[in-house]
Amino acid sequence: MTTDEKLGQLVQAAGGRSKNLNSRLTPEELDRVRRGAVGSYLHVAGAEPLAALQEVAVNEGPHGIPLLFAMDVVHGYRTIFPVPIAMASTWDPDDWQRAAAISADEATSAGLHWTFAPMVDIARDGRWGRVVEGAGSDPYLGSLMASAQVRGFQGEDLASNKTMLAATKHFGAYGAATGGRDYGAADISDRTLNEVYLPPFYAAAEAGSGSFMTAFNDVAGAPTTGNEALVDGVLRDRWGFDGMIVSDWNAIAELMNHGVAATRAEAGALALKAGIDMDMTSGIFGAELADAIAADPSLMADLDNAVGRILTTKERLGLFDDALAYNDASREAETLMSPEFRQASRDIAARTVVLLKNENAVLPLPVDGEQNIAVIGALADDQLTQLGSWRAQGHADDVVSILDGIYDAAPEGATVSYEPGADTKTANAEDIAAAADLAAASDIVLLVIGEDFDLSGEARSRSDISLPASQKQLADAVFAAGKPVIVLLVTGRPLAIPEIDEQAEAVLNTWMLGVEAGPAVADIVFGQKSPAGRLPIDFPRATGQSPITYSELPSGRPADADLSKDSNRYIDRPITPLYPFGHGLSYASFDYGTPTVSAANVAPDEAFTISVPVTNTSDRDAEEVVQLYMRDPVASVSRPKLELRGFERVFIPAGATSTVSFTLTPAQAAIYAGDGDWQIEPGDLIFSIGASSADLKGSVSVNVTGSASTRIPAAAIPTKVQVQ
Ligand code: GLC
Repeated sequence: MTTDEKLGQLVQAAGGRSKNLNSRLTPEELDRVRRGAVGSYLHVAGAEPLAALQEVAVNEGPHGIPLLFAMDVVHGYRTIFPVPIAMASTWDPDDWQRAAAISADEATSAGLHWTFAPMVDIARDGRWGRVVEGAGSDPYLGSLMASAQVRGFQGEDLASNKTMLAATKHFGAYGAATGGRDYGAADISDRTLNEVYLPPFYAAAEAGSGSFMTAFNDVAGAPTTGNEALVDGVLRDRWGFDGMIVSDWNAIAELMNHGVAATRAEAGALALKAGIDMDMTSGIFGAELADAIAADPSLMADLDNAVGRILTTKERLGLFDDALAYNDASREAETLMSPEFRQASRDIAARTVVLLKNENAVLPLPVDGEQNIAVIGALADDQLTQLGSWRAQGHADDVVSILDGIYDAAPEGATVSYEPGADTKTANAEDIAAAADLAAASDIVLLVIGEDFDLSGEARSRSDISLPASQKQLADAVFAAGKPVIVLLVTGRPLAIPEIDEQAEAVLNTWMLGVEAGPAVADIVFGQKSPAGRLPIDFPRATGQSPITYSELPSGRPADADLSKDSNRYIDRPITPLYPFGHGLSYASFDYGTPTVSAANVAPDEAFTISVPVTNTSDRDAEEVVQLYMRDPVASVSRPKLELRGFERVFIPAGATSTVSFTLTPAQAAIYAGDGDWQIEPGDLIFSIGASSADLKGSVSVNVTGSASTRIPAAAIPTKVQVQ
């Protein structure tokens, strides 16, 4: 291959726009393919159009090298599942693995080989718009969800035409952006980077993620796209990752905005040396990098490594054996939006719903009687919003709205009436008055409020994460009508809604649920299913509490409710979140027995088991999410108040008892010690069983009798769980 042909493999071009796929596949573009000037396209799709494009590459390109076709298939391709923050709320990795596998089946039937997912960025600041795209604030939960998605997308055989290459993103610490402002600097310690933000990436690498995407932002002043110590140093050298790394959109060129490159050629050289293999749309690898190599021939080795990894990836996908294996139009037609996939989306969506409050057991609504039910809020009828952020080829018309779901499922004898009241942008007095009048004339109100899809996602950071003004106005008017109000929250992020929590009888967080939003919500509202979703992130009482995490360090003056004491708290707000990490109610009730531990003293390499009996004391079958938290009370550095180290979503029939057992090793308490080393320290570890991070039921203590070192991020080590 000539240098230009090698460089061509490193080029990823936009074959269209996200809302106008394939639109840039012009005759001039096809000539670039014939010259071998492009290695991959995004913003393309369709078994037939991509067959035509692939044939040009394979039959007319300089070496017949097939192209890679990619898309952000993040929570569905055509059958759209709940947004990722909702998927994390199932606290069941098997759900996400199943959704990812279905997404891959659909996307590969449409000619795609590569998805830019899973997004595994830890987020502890609800102001950051992309919190919707990840698995929340916790590195342990995030690690298990990252692995599950990689397994779902890639399956057992990456060469199968039903599985696709994952691109775990956005490597580094994108979610640590200062102020929650997208693309902002991650000004964090090496310890925080390694203990909080990197574990899910490690877990994804261990699960076999075939590619990674680097983040737009810098970590402590070093932009990730040009950060050799982080990209080559950690991902490749320390963790042994041998797959392909792609930059984010135009991020190589943006190294000049970061101020670490004066020219495009310098930016290209910096990125190539850092370990970036493929250039997403900046054009620098295909153009100016040649000048950089001419000026510094040592870069040729980096170029050869990058080309090798790209060609190996195409080989792993089976593209050299059959470049058109993903291009069967009849398979595409019969695969997309199959009834089985739709049902899977409905089942999983119901499992993501989180019951935040349920005063006087107002939910589930009775299925007999002649209730006048008011559904109020334009979001109830907003199909597009239910597709959330990154909707791939999802169609709004495919979505069953919350309103239609309630209409369809309402019991005989009930009357359902609807008033939009207000959308998320505007409110007018007349519509609000009509909504208030309907509320006053009804027996119960389902008030559907929150954010629309465009208020979260990329470049959608908000400085105030309370309800949009029009939604507040609507809520005030409806509450003033004096009837029982059940709030159905629609959102892609934590919202600071203390006034809603105070006035509503019940609050059901329905996130954004995909194509089966309506039936999934109705399944919960009318009691066909008992909610068991749990929050994967804390909800603050006010924006000013952000960033917020249950897993913070204690400080020398731990936050104290007693204001007469000087402590780590605000004077104008309670120190607790509105809804804590791990919180979620059920229609059943559960009693936790006393936890036990298999050994009081363990060597650094010795496993131990913590068990707890959990009884369903209600008269309805239901699921409970049993959670295990760890605390290291005395160590060489201050340790978080709590760290999640185990969880299990358990189905327990009415009146029955299940015993949940967690088996761990001291390595899961190891403390980051620099240069990839993790230190297991001697001393006590306290393990607490909880129904949430703020509802601990009982604790046991384990004494680690010695020290040792490991190379594995502690939060990325999965705990073995058994249920009897
Ligand atoms: C965007 C996002 C990234 C996405 C890429 C391609 O800017 O940061 O997550 O995969 O561009 O759409």
